[in-house]
Amino acid sequence: MTSPFRLDGKTVLISGAGGGIGQSLVKAFRDAGAQVIGADRKAAMLEGLDITGQVLFDQADPKATRHAITQYLQLHGTPDAVVSNAGFTRAEHLGQVDDDVWASELAINLNGAYAMTDPIVAAMADRGYGSLVFISSVNALGHYGNPAYSAAKAGLIAYAKAIAVERGGEGVRANVICPGSVRTPAWDHRLAADPTLLDNVLPHYPLGRMVLPMEVANAAVFYSSDAASGITGTVLPVDAGLTAGNLRFVDDVLRGK
Ligand SMILES: NC(=O)c1ccc[n+]([C@@H]2O[C@H](COP(=O)([O-])OP(=O)(O)OC[C@H]3O[C@@H](n4cnc5c(N)ncnc54)[C@H](O)[C@@H]3O)[C@@H](O)[C@H]2O)c1
Repeated sequence: MTSPFRLDGKTVLISGAGGGIGQSLVKAFRDAGAQVIGADRKAAMLEGLDITGQVLFDQADPKATRHAITQYLQLHGTPDAVVSNAGFTRAEHLGQVDDDVWASELAINLNGAYAMTDPIVAAMADRGYGSLVFISSVNALGHYGNPAYSAAKAGLIAYAKAIAVERGGEGVRANVICPGSVRTPAWDHRLAADPTLLDNVLPHYPLGRMVLPMEVANAAVFYSSDAASGITGTVLPVDAGLTAGNLRFVDDVLRGK
């Protein structure tokens, strides 16, 4: 009997497939038996990945994103699962946000994710099944900086719940993963400014370390598999314990470390 955790014969579309978490997503879904369609801004970002197809768009442009995805669906059909993983932030705190920054981080992280997934949700509903996983962030659950990005990531939770509630009757599931800090190229610009920065990150994490890209990917495989067939509209932190409580408070105030 096939394990419900396997994805043999299924196709998954993964956005931001060329990024740090994206590459682990590709590997994890391939290891679980799925065919992978990689999506990213440029073909060069997908080079060397074990994928059977690709779709290219700039997610900051919702019209172009919707157009690219719609064309892909017409030519190749509807994937069984989607992982909406592309994301971007540069504005670290409110002092770095203005109208333009706010609009641009909402465009990439929320509006673009909607434009990418909305045609797929419609096609999945017509077909009668499908699963979506949105890679949000712990920033959607409490404030850890990056205000505009955080608003967008919180918006993804509302959107996933809308899909879960309104499209559940047509067999479409939608769930959200909220990673804590993961050492990927998304951290390169911060580490270039301060190479010792990761030493400041670790004391916040109950597991004493950052989350690995593969730990995020494994959760996405689970959500996309039949093992999660009864799970929709949920939010799963994969955060090494960050949102469980305030370890720094316990250490500094109560344990006197
Ligand atoms: N790394 C972390 O600490 C962390 C923590 C929580 C959540 N996340 C989320 O995980 C996801 C993956 O992040 P990562 O750490 O692998 O970052 P990354 O920078 O390594 O990868 C991001 C991917 O998104 C793609 N992308 C960015 N802007 C795009 C655009 N305008 N159009 C199309 N594609 C675009 C990039 O090309 C890249 O493939 C993101 O949504 C990010 O917000 C990351």
